[in-house]
Amino acid sequence: MKAWLWDGLRGIDHLRLTEVSDPVAKDGEVVMEVHYAALNPADRYLAEKRYPYPVNPPLPHVLGRDGMGTIIQVGKGVKDVRVGDRRAILRGDVGVFRWGTFAERVSVSAVNLVEIPAGWSEEESAGATLVYMAAYRALTMWGQLKPNAVVLVTGASGGVGVATVQLAAAMGHTVVALSRSEEKHRRLKELGATLTFNPENSRWSTDAKAALAPRGVDLAVDNIGGKLLPEVIDTMGELGKVSLVGELAGPVPNFNTATLFSRRLRIGAMALGYYTPEEGHAAWQEVLCQLARSGARPLVDRMFPFEQLPQAFERLGEGPMGKVLLNVKR
Ligand SMILES: NC(=O)c1ccc[n+]([C@@H]2O[C@H](COP(=O)([O-])OP(=O)(O)OC[C@H]3O[C@@H](n4cnc5c(N)ncnc54)[C@H](OP(=O)(O)O)[C@@H]3O)[C@@H](O)[C@H]2O)c1
Repeated sequence: MKAWLWDGLRGIDHLRLTEVSDPVAKDGEVVMEVHYAALNPADRYLAEKRYPYPVNPPLPHVLGRDGMGTIIQVGKGVKDVRVGDRRAILRGDVGVFRWGTFAERVSVSAVNLVEIPAGWSEEESAGATLVYMAAYRALTMWGQLKPNAVVLVTGASGGVGVATVQLAAAMGHTVVALSRSEEKHRRLKELGATLTFNPENSRWSTDAKAALAPRGVDLAVDNIGGKLLPEVIDTMGELGKVSLVGELAGPVPNFNTATLFSRRLRIGAMALGYYTPEEGHAAWQEVLCQLARSGARPLVDRMFPFEQLPQAFERLGEGPMGKVLLNVKR
């Protein structure tokens, strides 16, 4: 089969498309012919050796954590999946500790598969699981929010951002979405945001506080970090919580813990890697219930041919609107 192989040299530009041996399904596993794979910033982090967990996959390695396709081989002990079934990968070790979906075929533990949700296209299913689970976890990790809470989402146009906007709106909350692109503000409102702000405008947090007054943000889901985090904290209301999901803008400079005290704010990290398969499946069912209720569907930004993985990563780096996909089956 063909796969995008990574030999361990630092950087995404060291991936090369080459011929490798086909995977074989071990006990409890299946082999899936990949139709579509989805890109995540974590793939780049891994290749750049700045993944936020201690991960050193055996080399050479194939990246790609998300994808969907047709099962072509079933290992011993697999009960619920048959050859010919179509499945998507729920978050697991694929693309992290074992070869991933930037390949024509991938072996996956059967416990990490989910059915294609009714009515969803293959493209919609390919990149949905990881981002919706991240969004769901970030929204629920502090317990149930009060009804019609104010939820602020940074990096709202990205994979996790869009999923968070849609789920928070489906849960009945007021969504404040941040994007550096004014063009994307209209799309974010269509997806469920009530208010949108451009974080590059130095007045954005003052404007957000004025628009929300006398309330403040109850929960912030932060995908960005960097100098934006203290500005996000400025918009928080009494007892507000911040779910840290990503840090696309890097470390937070000059963070002052004194800003947390008077409003008794809490900040915590969400880490999807610590979900067990059982917790993952339960969360995925919750996600599907919320989306079925609201009618929201996964948003695909752009599809790239299998041979154009470097261009797909460029698009991801520019700031997509939804998920960037790779058409592996062609
Ligand atoms: N903790 C976990 O378990 C977990 C799980 C999933 C993802 N993550 C992390 O969550 C973060 C978001 O993931 P994603 O898949 O949503 O990423 P994404 O699809 O690349 O989208 C991120 C969005 O953030 C904005 N952005 C990108 N770089 C930025 C920068 N330097 N400064 C300000 N805004 C920037 C862009 O929006 P605009 O151009 O519209 O502003 C972009 O659309 C990543 O760091 C990812 O690794 C963590």
